[in-house]
Amino acid sequence: MTINKYGILAAEYYDPILHPTCANFRSLSIKGIESTICCLGQEFQNCLEVGAGKSVMAELRSTGLTSINHLTISDESAEMLAYSHSLSEYYESKIILDALNSDGHSNGDIKNYDLIVCSLGDPYNTASFWKGMGKLLNNNGIVIFTTPSYEWAESFRTDTQSERTKEADFVDENGELVSVPSYIHRADKQFDIFRNYGFEISIRTDLYSHCIEKENLSKKLEKAIFKNVSLLTLYCLKLNQS
Ligand SMILES: C[S@@+](CC[C@H](N)C(=O)[O-])C[C@H]1O[C@@H](n2cnc3c(N)ncnc32)[C@H](O)[C@@H]1O
Repeated sequence: MTINKYGILAAEYYDPILHPTCANFRSLSIKGIESTICCLGQEFQNCLEVGAGKSVMAELRSTGLTSINHLTISDESAEMLAYSHSLSEYYESKIILDALNSDGHSNGDIKNYDLIVCSLGDPYNTASFWKGMGKLLNNNGIVIFTTPSYEWAESFRTDTQSERTKEADFVDENGELVSVPSYIHRADKQFDIFRNYGFEISIRTDLYSHCIEKENLSKKLEKAIFKNVSLLTLYCLKLNQS
């Protein structure tokens, strides 16, 4: 049986006292996604948010974003998706969807989306995920994908190789270590994955610690101020038409 690790963490994931680094990353991610959508200046008919947890798109709609006509939120974990209940008037549908197996998604939705948003998508940033997204996105569609930056992961996570690039460690409320998948690739490898599955980068944005109020900055991210490394990378991608 597959154990959904985010399901285990769900009860406390959004507690900013227990997990300030997650709260910091989310606030950077939401800022980046909002400004990218404003910059694009276009209207989207059908948006899918992957790994939504507490949906950033529903939250942005609740504060005035009007350019999305229909929003479907999805997550592999029902417990994480439950954080979006309070925002239910700001999305039209929700589904339990394993992003690594999106072929299981109803056929009617193939190529149906003109915007796919993945906020903090490192848990499923693998070849099978990108292969599946190519089938769900329509030919003129856009994917907005954010991830903790490789520079941060390499410099500021703890020393074991796996924690740097394939897993993220959380110490839960009871002091137990919970490791969850986290695939953060070096830029050249990430570009290869995009290219192999038909995506090209139209915008890349790096977000730094100065975008977070200083008093809220987690210890794990504080050091980034001195080293001046980016914390979060945002990619805006489209399908290569050639
Ligand atoms: C780092 S959290 C980010 C949550 C949310 N997008 C946000 O920005 O607050 C990652 C989310 O991805 C979900 N997730 C992990 N693996 C997944 C998979 N294979 N398919 C779909 N969702 C997945 C987790 O359940 C969790 O909600």
